[in-house]
Amino acid sequence: MKVGIDKIGFYAPNTYIDLIDLAKERGVDPNKFLIGIGQERQTVVPLSQDVVSMAANAATSIFSESDRDTIDMILFGTETGVDNSKSAAIYLQQLLGLRKNVRTVELKQACYGATAGVLLARDYVTVHPDRKVLVIGSDIARYGLKTAGEVTQGGGAVAMIISAEPSILVLEAETSHISEDIMDFWRPINRREALVDGKYSTNVYLDFFQTAFESYKKQTDRELSDFDAMTFHLPFTKMGLKGLRTVLNQVDENKQKQLMTEFENSRVYNKQIGNLYTGSLYLSLLSLLSETKLDAGSRIGLFSYGSGAEGEFYSGILQEAYKRQLNPEQMAHWLDNRTRLTISEYETIFNQSLPADNGDFETDINKDDGVFVFAGIKDKKRIYRKK
Ligand code: HMG
Repeated sequence: MKVGIDKIGFYAPNTYIDLIDLAKERGVDPNKFLIGIGQERQTVVPLSQDVVSMAANAATSIFSESDRDTIDMILFGTETGVDNSKSAAIYLQQLLGLRKNVRTVELKQACYGATAGVLLARDYVTVHPDRKVLVIGSDIARYGLKTAGEVTQGGGAVAMIISAEPSILVLEAETSHISEDIMDFWRPINRREALVDGKYSTNVYLDFFQTAFESYKKQTDRELSDFDAMTFHLPFTKMGLKGLRTVLNQVDENKQKQLMTEFENSRVYNKQIGNLYTGSLYLSLLSLLSETKLDAGSRIGLFSYGSGAEGEFYSGILQEAYKRQLNPEQMAHWLDNRTRLTISEYETIFNQSLPADNGDFETDINKDDGVFVFAGIKDKKRIYRKK
């Protein structure tokens, strides 16, 4: 039986900064950000959105009534959780109007959480082929103003429905997984900004990618030449390029060109949005699906990395209907028509703290283009609203 990604949807707030503006303000050569880091714009998340409302907005963009009846489980990958106890998935169950016998769980392992969700969902659907699982990757990437990590911030959510006989990508059985206790990036409880050993984190990422990919090759007897595209977790898009470059010498020049072309397709959206942590690999997959001309039957590689650290390489086969629910024109229109903030406006938003109890953010909500918003805190409880 074939199981995999049946639908994929995305949401990010409509406010961004241009990284040339940021470079000028920080006294950096813009090419460092555009070429050296591989980012052009960065989403700025207002107070009226959090990981729950962003996930609800992403999920609602792909939902049909039949999904509502057949979804058994929400697996919510995030490292920007809104509560130390209650899962973000349970808010989502209510916002999306799902049945009460749906399992709702939050998964955390840095940027790897959504991949854990996809692979656990695959196993569940394999046992229950008439059921579906909603998998979320939703995060806000924050390092701090004037830090080296600032250019690699961003935010947004990806929602996927995992089912039998999927329309987009059938997941292959073999995966190669690696985990090790490493302090390359972490965020102690109560800190809003991550702590990071930046250069070290990029080295661990590359090391995990090479180890996982070589082990996948051994397990499967497949080679890089068996792939039509390779996608990566993209904390910044140059990171995936660095990963790809470590293995490109394994194939001939024609294959190298193909993999490079598809890599460019897979980073169009990420360059404009920034890091989504858990959602980044899947935003990159969405970018590839939208931009590529690959045929059904093509094999796609996926490398997921979560600091701390956990990595997994797995693969999937493109399905005939993979273009059917995509709308690249609408996405391009949305990307071009977002609100560009000045660096000073972005800094003000960045420094805003959560409102005191019983506070709301009507001003932010009025400007917000999401269907769902985080409307404030009342009696220490988060309030979400459908606009
Ligand atoms: P940095 O020190 O500002 O940058 O930090 P740099 O000096 O290393 O320069 C970056 C690149 O720009 C270099 O290229 C320079 O040569 C180039 P590279 O050697 O890397 O190929 N450069 C230029 N290129 C063109 N024109 C110029 C120019 N000047 C310089 N004029 C760093 C960069 C990524 C370390 C920093 O932004 C950071 O700490 N970011 C956050 C950490 C991060 O994203 N790590 C990625 C791996 S870990 C991961 O993926 C997990 C994560 O998503 C979290 C999770 O799992 O939850 C982060």
